[in-house]
Parts: sequence; C-alpha cells; structure tokens
Amino acid sequence: MDMFDAVQQAVCFLRARLSSEVQVAIVLGTGLGGVAENLEVAARIPYREIPHFPESTVEGHKGELVFGKLGGKSVLAMQGRFHYYEGYSLQQTTLPIRIMRALGCRFLLVNSAAGGLNPHFRAGDVMIVTDHINLMGDNPLRGVLDPRLGERFPDMSRPYDDELIRRAGEAAVERKIQVKYGVYAAVSGPNLETRAETRMLRLLGADAVGMSTVPEVIVASQIGFRTLALAAVTNVNLPDAMEPVSVETVIENAQLIQPKLGAITERVLERLS
Ligand code: HPA
Repeated sequence: MDMFDAVQQAVCFLRARLSSEVQVAIVLGTGLGGVAENLEVAARIPYREIPHFPESTVEGHKGELVFGKLGGKSVLAMQGRFHYYEGYSLQQTTLPIRIMRALGCRFLLVNSAAGGLNPHFRAGDVMIVTDHINLMGDNPLRGVLDPRLGERFPDMSRPYDDELIRRAGEAAVERKIQVKYGVYAAVSGPNLETRAETRMLRLLGADAVGMSTVPEVIVASQIGFRTLALAAVTNVNLPDAMEPVSVETVIENAQLIQPKLGAITERVLERLS
C-alpha cells in the first residue's frame, strides 16, 4: 500500500473517533508526556488501534493519541513518538505528522529531550528551536515522489514559524520562565555522542543535539504545518569536560522540565487564533 492510502485509512478511522475538528497537533517526547497534563481529555486512542500507526517501543513513552482541549484549543497529542533508532524508517516515524495534518491540524508543537552543546546552557533549560541541522544521514522525503503528499523540493529557509517562536518567548516571559534559543542538530542515535562528536556538533553551529524532531519538522514543512519546537535540555555536553549521560538522568530531568514546557505550550495555545 502506498503512503497516501495509509494516511487516508488512518484519517477515516480517526475521524470516526473524534467528536470535533482538530486545530493543533502536539508531539510529546521522552519523559515529556506530562506536558499535556492539563489537557481535558475527550478520547484516548492507543497507537496499536490506529491503522498503519507504528507502535512506540521506548521507555518513557506511552503510545497513545490523546484528543481533547488544551488552552481552549482542540488538540491531538501524541504521547510517545517514533524514533529512527527503533528501527523504523523516517517515512514511518513521520507518518503520524501526515495523518494529523490530513485530519485538519494547522499548527504543530513538537517537544523533545535534547543534550545541550552551548556552554551557556544548563540542564533544566528550555530551548526554543530556531533552526536545525539534519545529521541523521537519511531523509523522510526520500523516495519516489507522490505529488498528493507534497512537493519534491520543499523550501527549508524557515521551518520554525517566526510568529510561534515570538509567542513562545512572550509566554515564557509572562510565566517567568527563562528560555534559550538555538539550533537543534538531529543524529540517528541510539548511542550518545563521543567527545569528538560533541566538539564537531558545536563547531557546526548546533546548540543542542537530539534524536528526533528534525524528520517530523521536515515533513511538517512539506505539508504546510506552522511549527514550534521546544527542547528540554536534560544534560549539557562539553567536549573538554564531558560527563557520562544516562537515560535515567535524561528522563528524570525531562520530567523536571515538563511543567515549564507545559506552561509555555498552554499559554501559546490560549493566544493562538
Ligand atoms: N544527546 C543526544 N540526544 C539526547 C541527549 C544527548 O546528550 N540528551 C537527551 N537526548
């Protein structure tokens, strides 16, 4: 079956389960399921019930699509995302993004845990993503072009929406949360970076590194989403004073940053029109 048909089938299934239109798609990353804590839930749909949806296999991920209201907007939140390192193709990991857009969502809010590379960052910071570098060595748009899915050579000069970036900054000020801004580099993982890789990533201009977000944002750009990405800086990697990073620390710190991401997300949604 081709991807277009897979998207249509999932959309058909989900339309029957959703009681109203959806405006905003949210992707919650590792240890960040609680960002949607204040979501007034109308329906929870396990991924395994949705046609063609992959299943989430990672620790810290729930594997449910949650439909409801957050900040007065009608949202679909993915509690748990799919990663390249789980063995899925980038086409598979980004299929939910296509499905949520086809369901009518216009805005995409992506959260993820990331390792800080900028020496001014501290574990616990929130970084508003202003741009990215794709170092995954693969691309979700690779393959035979199906024009029904989008164009061949999408522009990538502004994959993150300037107005949403501004609003997230304002929301942070209103909620007295300090935020950083920066460039997110995506690597395939699943291992964490060596000191030499960390130094290279910083030299390339990245402020944070993670194993997600970028494929989703590439697809989102192709299909006309307005995107905001927030990264939870769970650890900071400095090549000259590199400390071991454990997944436990990443998840623990992500959970500590959750309330900040939640507050910013909710405020951005409240003011969205
Ligand atoms: N590297 C890559 N991905 C990550 C990190 C890291 O240090 N921390 C959280 N996600």
